[in-house]
Amino acid sequence: MPTLKDVAERAGVTVTTVSRMLNGRVNVSPATRQRIQDAMREIGYYPNEMARSLARKSSSFIGLIVPSAQNYFFAELVHHVEAAASVHGCRLMLCVSNQDGKVAQEYYQMLTSNKVMGVIMGNYEMSLDEVKRSAAPVVVFDQPADTEVPCALTDDIQGGRLAAAHLIDKGCRHLLYLSGNIQKNNVSLHRYEGYAAVCRECRVPSPMTVEASWEEFMTMNYDQSVSRLFTEHPETDGIFTSNDIMAAGVVQYCRRHSIRIPEDVKVVGYDDTSFASLCAVPLTTIHQPIEQLAQYAVECIVRRANGEMVPSTTVFPVRLIARETT
Ligand code: RIB
Repeated sequence: MPTLKDVAERAGVTVTTVSRMLNGRVNVSPATRQRIQDAMREIGYYPNEMARSLARKSSSFIGLIVPSAQNYFFAELVHHVEAAASVHGCRLMLCVSNQDGKVAQEYYQMLTSNKVMGVIMGNYEMSLDEVKRSAAPVVVFDQPADTEVPCALTDDIQGGRLAAAHLIDKGCRHLLYLSGNIQKNNVSLHRYEGYAAVCRECRVPSPMTVEASWEEFMTMNYDQSVSRLFTEHPETDGIFTSNDIMAAGVVQYCRRHSIRIPEDVKVVGYDDTSFASLCAVPLTTIHQPIEQLAQYAVECIVRRANGEMVPSTTVFPVRLIARETT
């Protein structure tokens, strides 16, 4: 295993020079830096970033805990958090909890014991009590928390309002909402609240609801809920779903059952990841500014790590993107 000593000998400098250059504690001439980097590459030496972070008692790692690595929203969030972290000279430690609170808790403890710069996570993975007691900066997304833990959110109520207004404007009068659990304070419920509010304001019957299961979320296969939707509510002419994957499932069901989109049924999804425009029938959907959310969350971690204060809650607006399902 190549060592720091091997690098120093090959580059013709002292071990101290190599170590201090890697820790950013000394400015070496461009020629010396190049010789050290060439030596590292030639003998295959790669510094142990985690060990250096622990030694420095500060870290260039940012932890990100997500419930799924497959789900297109979270995959796109990972992409943008990693890009934002690298702009700040940081590296990403990605943890996937599969929506298991115990696993999320273990990952959180692993990240903080490894002295990461901070942690970005969905506010449904675990209780925030431990987060509040920890010194590690944390930013949560997707669900509001109390003011002690900074939140980076998008306007879910506005998203529901935009979906309802668009479907009603397109002539729909029998609206339905297909989502995750809406029995607790979460994004699915807030999207429903906006959706139902506009139905009331427009004196359109209150939307029917179908709640998909955890298994459907994790497998990204909503066939069971979509089939139930059309079986139990055949009069539906406008469907709003709490993510684009559900919306694509509705489109697939309609194509299999000769239900015309948008003539017979109109569909609005949520998220507007790159998946939405690639669907067989490109989705009308609510655009979440995922890149902006990711950049902001990383900036909050960096600012908190530098001892700066950050706002308790920041909510980014969403917008409707009209395509071929309406
Ligand atoms: O399934 C993706 C959804 O889960 C996104 O809308 C995101 O906000 C998360 O809540």
